[in-house]
Amino acid sequence: MLSKELILNALRNVQDPDLHRDLVTLDMVKDIQISSDKIFVNIALTTPACPMKNKIKEDCIVEIKKVVGENYTIEVDMSSNVTTHRNSIKEKLLPGVKNTIAVASGKGGVGKSTVAVNLAVALAVDGAKVGLIDADIYGPSIPLMLGVNEKPKMIGDNPNEVQLIPVEKYNVKLMSIGFLIDENTPVIWRGPMASGAIKQFMSDVLWGELDYLIFDLPPGTGDIQLTLVQTIPLTGALIVTTPQDVALIDARKALKMFERVNVTVLGIVENMSYFIAPDTGKRYDIFGNGGGRKTANEMGTPFLGEIPINPLIREGGDSGRPIVIIDPNCEESKKIFEISRNMAAQISIRNINQPLIPKIEILNS
Ligand SMILES: Nc1ncnc2c1ncn2[C@@H]1O[C@H](COP(=O)(O)OP(=O)(O)OP(=O)(O)O)[C@@H](O)[C@H]1O
Ligand SMILES: [Mg+2]
Repeated sequence: MLSKELILNALRNVQDPDLHRDLVTLDMVKDIQISSDKIFVNIALTTPACPMKNKIKEDCIVEIKKVVGENYTIEVDMSSNVTTHRNSIKEKLLPGVKNTIAVASGKGGVGKSTVAVNLAVALAVDGAKVGLIDADIYGPSIPLMLGVNEKPKMIGDNPNEVQLIPVEKYNVKLMSIGFLIDENTPVIWRGPMASGAIKQFMSDVLWGELDYLIFDLPPGTGDIQLTLVQTIPLTGALIVTTPQDVALIDARKALKMFERVNVTVLGIVENMSYFIAPDTGKRYDIFGNGGGRKTANEMGTPFLGEIPINPLIREGGDSGRPIVIIDPNCEESKKIFEISRNMAAQISIRNINQPLIPKIEILNS
C-alpha cells in the first residue's frame, strides 16, 4: 500500500539546487494526494521566478517513480511562497513588503532604469507581486519607460495624513519622484529632500502585499546615494554596469558602498554586453567583453547575467513598452528573465540563511 510517508521520503532525495537542501527540510512539500492510478504533489517554491523550477519538477517525478514504478500518473504542481527578509525597520515601515531591492550603478547611463523596469515586469510576468520606486532625483525616467501618464490617487482629507495609491502598469505598482515634480522643472531636490521623499514613499503609499519592491537609485556613490541606502531597509542590491573599464571601476565603488553599510550585494548585471547585427548575425563587443563577470568573480559576488544592445530595448523604453512585454521570447527578453530569476534565487538564498532570531534581539536579551 502506497503511503504519503513513502512519497515524502522520495522527495527527501530532491534538492533545491540553489538552496542546497532537500524539499522536505525546506518545508516545500505542501500536499500529497494518492489515488488508484495517480499521485499528486504540490511543491511551494521560495519564489514564482525560480530559475530551477523545471529541474525541481523533473527531479520530483524521477524520485517518485523510483518508489512507485510506472503504474501511476505523477502530477507535480508548483506553487510559491516568497521568503521574507526579516528586518525590524522594514516590518515597521513596509509591513506588507517581503523584500526590498536597490538597483544601483556607479556610473550614469549604463541602463540602470531600463534594467529595473524590465526586471520588475519580468518578475510580475512570472507571478510575483511587484512594486517599483523611481528614486532617481537627477532624472526620474521610469513613468516614461512604463508609459504611465497618470499620477497616483490620494486618499484622506487631512493634508498631513494623505495616503497615496500607487499607479499600476503591467501588474507592477509604481511610485516615482517624477510624480512630484513637473517634467520640465529642473531637479533641485538634493540630499535630505531626496531621503524625505523616499521616506514618504515608504510610509504614505498603500503598497499592500508585495513580494519584491525595487528601488531605482540615482547613479553614483555620493552622499545622496549613501543616505538613500541607509534610509531604505534593504534586502539587497543589484549593480548594473557596462563592460568598459570606466563603468567597471565605478561598479566596484558601488559594491564597496553597499558592503560598508552592510547591505548584501545580490549580484552584478552587465548591460550593453554585445550587439548582434541583424543583417549578418555577427557579434560585436562594442564596449569590450566579459568585464562584468570578471569583476563579479574578483569581488566574490554573483554574476547574474548579461543583456545585449538592441535598439528594441531603447525603443521599448521610449514608448513605454518594455522589451519583456513587446517580445517576451526574443533573446534579450530571455536574458532578462534569466537575470530576474537569478536575482530572485539570490534573495531566497539570503533569506533562507538569515538567523532565525534577528541579531538585534539577541543583543538586547
Ligand atoms: N541593452 C540596451 N540596448 C539598447 N539600448 C539600451 C540598452 N540598455 C539601455 N538602453 C538605452 O540607453 C539609454 C540609457 O539607459 P537608462 O536610462 O536605463 O540608463 P540609466 O543608467 O538609468 O541612466 P541614468 O544614470 O541617467 O539614470 C536609454 O535610452 C535606454 O533605452
Ligand atoms: Mg536612470
